[in-house]
Parts: sequence; structure tokens; C-alpha cells
Amino acid sequence: MNDSEMLELVCARAWPPVVDEPLGDWRLRWADGFTGRANSALAVGDPGRSVAAALTAVCDFAHDRGIPPVAQVIQDSATERAVAAAGWREWTEHAAGHEVSVLVGPLPAGPAQDAEILDEPTTAWWELAADSPSPGAAERHVLSTGKVGYGVVDVDDVDDAAGVTAGAVRGAIVDGWLHVSRLAVRPEFRRRGLASALMSALAGWGRAHGAERWVLQVAVDNEGALKLYSALGCTEHHRYRYWGPGPGACEDPQS
Ligand SMILES: CC(C)(COP(=O)(O)OP(=O)(O)OC[C@H]1O[C@@H](n2cnc3c(N)ncnc32)[C@H](O)[C@@H]1OP(=O)(O)O)[C@@H](O)C(=O)NCCC(=O)NCCS
Repeated sequence: MNDSEMLELVCARAWPPVVDEPLGDWRLRWADGFTGRANSALAVGDPGRSVAAALTAVCDFAHDRGIPPVAQVIQDSATERAVAAAGWREWTEHAAGHEVSVLVGPLPAGPAQDAEILDEPTTAWWELAADSPSPGAAERHVLSTGKVGYGVVDVDDVDDAAGVTAGAVRGAIVDGWLHVSRLAVRPEFRRRGLASALMSALAGWGRAHGAERWVLQVAVDNEGALKLYSALGCTEHHRYRYWGPGPGACEDPQS
């Protein structure tokens, strides 16, 4: 496998779906619809059959579990050309953005700022990272399986002496990489350096757990986040895109 494919496997391990079935080197993934990554086939490596036959297996798996058939494919790869040739098309319906930049960089060595990285998620962390204070089983599985750090940053609040959690981030350690995800700052607290503080604290946590580099997956149209990560020394390693079946490429036998 090439570097991009190896890095995709690292990212996949940092984001474990509830169901993860091998299809040769490819992975068929399901997590009750929570995130594109955990509910798409990772089309990396050799599926052990033709790409067209592998895509049929992707369709069957998705239909059995009630999710749309989607493949996550490294952009401009031979696999992507084969997926297009099989009658699939870019899955632009993906709300979070179907084209994603995978960024890497060395962990900066600055002092941790006012954010902290917890060993267990708090209710406020779930609220920010999963959009719900009481997430379902699939969200909990994806976000809290593995060696995970739960970053939070609190700010003073006039109505609450304990302060309010204004931002959160998730970090996962895989093979010397720190995989960063779910960075979010409440809209009313943005552009005050809170995301930067979270990233700085997370970098320290990552170094303490043996990581030397971080890896992030960012939708290519998320200009604010890309600017933030670029300022932290991250550069693009490769891109991936989500693909779905074109008309007639994936009939559901149930419908
Ligand atoms: C992206 C996000 C986390 C940034 O949080 P933040 O606390 O406002 O970021 P910071 O204040 O630390 O910003 C640091 C620098 O990043 C860049 N930046 C951050 N947000 C930006 C934006 N919306 N537009 C342009 N640049 C931005 C700026 O260079 C900024 O420095 P400056 O304010 O001195 O110009 C926040 O906008 C957010 O929660 N967005 C929605 C969720 C999201 O997109 N998360 C990232 C997923 S990969």
C-alpha cells in the first residue's frame, strides 16, 4: 500500500464503526448513520475481486443495514477511476462535504494553554462533540472507543460560577499518530483563540502518549478550519471523496 492508503487505515482505526467487515483490504462499515466515515465502505487496497463486484457487495451491505451505499475513495487514485467506470458518481449529497482534505503535521511543542484534556467525556463534551448531551450507542462507540482524549475549554459565565464549556475536541492515538476530530467552539465564543488553545492542549496530550504527528480530516470548503490548521503547521497529504451509485448501478432488491 502507498502512504495515502496507510494513512487512511490509521484514520479508520481512530474512528471505529460498530460493524466493520473486511472485503479483501476494503472495509464495510456501519454505525447507525453516525458520520460518513463510519457508514461508508473504505475503498483502500485490493478488495480481492473486481472493483465492480466489490461495489455490489457495498450495495448489499448498505441495503441490509438501511444506510445509503457509499464508498470513501482516495481522490485521483486508480480505485477512484475504477469506481467511476463502474457507474458510480461523486456523492455530493453528503451534508458535511463530500470532498475531504487529509492534513498532517508535526505536533507543536508550545505550552498547553487554558484548555484541558480529560480521560472521560463530560456531558458538555458530548453536547459539543456529538451534538447531544445524551448520544446514542453508535455515537458513543465511535467517539469513545480506543485511546481517546476529550478536550474541553471553559470560559467564565456571569450566570454560572463554574463557567461554561465553550469548546471541545477529540483526540485518538493510533500508531504514533494523534488523530484530531470533532473540534467545535460555540458560535458566541469564536475568534477568541479557544480552538487554538484546545489544539495546543491536545498536542501536549498527544506527545505525552507517544504521538509525534497529528492527522486531521477537513471538508475542503471549511475555510476557517483550514486556516486554523494551516497556522498550526498542517499541510495537505491527500484528499478523499465519497462516491455513491449512479442511476441503475445499485438496485435494492427490497424496494
Ligand atoms: C473552526 C472553529 C473550531 C474555530 O474556532 P475558534 O475558537 O473561532 O478559532 P480560533 O479563535 O482559535 O482561531 C484561530 C485562527 O484560526 C483562523 N480562523 C478560525 N476561524 C476562522 C474563520 N471562520 N474564518 C477564517 N479564519 C478563521 C484565524 O486565523 C484565527 O486567528 P484570528 O482570529 O487571529 O484571525 C470554529 O469556527 C467552529 O467550531 N466551527 C464549526 C465546527 C468546525 O468546522 N470544526 C472543524 C471541523 S474540521
